[in-house]
Amino acid sequence: MSVETRVVPALGELCRRGIVAAPMAGGVSRPELAAAVSDAGGLGFLAAGYKTADGMYEEIKQLRALTSKPFGVNLFMPQPAADPAALDLYRQQLASESAWYETPIQERDDHGTDDGYEAKLALLVDDPVPVVSFAFGCPSRDELDALAHVGTYTVVTVTTPEEAQAAEWAGADAVCVQGIEAGGHQSTHRDDPQTDGSGGLGLLSLVTQVRETVQVPVIAAGGLMRGAQIAAVRAAGADAAQLGTAFLACPESGAHAMHKNALKNPLFVRTELTRAFSGRPARGLVNRFMREHGPYAPSAYPEVHYMTAGLRQAAARVGDAQGMALWAGQGHRLARDIPAGRLVQVLSAEADSAWTEMALRRSTS
Ligand SMILES: Cc1cc2nc3c(=O)[nH]c(=O)nc-3n(C[C@H](O)[C@H](O)[C@H](O)COP(=O)(O)O)c2cc1C
Repeated sequence: MSVETRVVPALGELCRRGIVAAPMAGGVSRPELAAAVSDAGGLGFLAAGYKTADGMYEEIKQLRALTSKPFGVNLFMPQPAADPAALDLYRQQLASESAWYETPIQERDDHGTDDGYEAKLALLVDDPVPVVSFAFGCPSRDELDALAHVGTYTVVTVTTPEEAQAAEWAGADAVCVQGIEAGGHQSTHRDDPQTDGSGGLGLLSLVTQVRETVQVPVIAAGGLMRGAQIAAVRAAGADAAQLGTAFLACPESGAHAMHKNALKNPLFVRTELTRAFSGRPARGLVNRFMREHGPYAPSAYPEVHYMTAGLRQAAARVGDAQGMALWAGQGHRLARDIPAGRLVQVLSAEADSAWTEMALRRSTS
């Protein structure tokens, strides 16, 4: 590794079209998906969450073989240890699922309490990638500096203006502002066990407040499915848009076929935040598992994620979407199952025409 500090590129150089495919852990963000997005002028992401450091590195090598364009890698910040008594109670709550799917409730695997965070970070400093983003917290200034030193652009996901301020002070190059509409986990820096997580701000309101709080570029995420919405968050001050659910439906996404189908299945009419599957508020299509266990699930992430892993896999094996974690944002009904590169082009064209129309209306009013 060179001791010379490399120059960190600007967001516009890394993501020409201002469209980011959200990192989606659990096998969704395959290298094929990230490559298709980056090749089309968006920013593709790998999701390192739940993977070992070696598993993450393997995917980076696969992605580098598929594209020479910039891409990102997303890390989970380490979480505080869970209360063992609360976990015992939830284990009892899940006993009926264990019997139904004839699957034991898993104990923690050997990922440790920190999702391999330090090993992953060390690897990314050693063999840098263009962008690294963080979920569930803010890295230290030293960690962000180490990445800046090797030319990596850093993004911290935030859900409040205060978290955005803390990320800017720590030295992040940009913040990914996640509204309450977003699919998957809410990336709050601290999970408050006293709340169900549903008190967060809607994206437009949040982007506006963050824009007035920090100077760094803002990437907006949550419920964005059409180019006109991307133009709207740009008007509110966002520099780029990050979309998860929209890319979940693409053929290159590694989401389970039942998960993809559920996005537009009228059986699943709405989404909610739940701790049922992972112990941290995450938005998914409301199903039986969520309804029956959500109210009893403790704040215990990622312990609950590992407890329910076998049950979720068993549900998928027997074709039972009612027992799977069907993560999705509020815009899920607008999903289009077109190739990811094409989706980037369509979103970009839609955003440009909405932007032009807004400008025209302004000039004629
Ligand atoms: C299936 C799924 C998995 C996700 N996994 C991650 C992840 O590993 N890391 C992360 O920072 N965000 C993750 N997210 C959240 C996204 O980064 C983003 O905030 C969200 O998808 C935006 O909302 P949308 O799905 O409505 O577009 C995930 C979202 C989904 C739908």
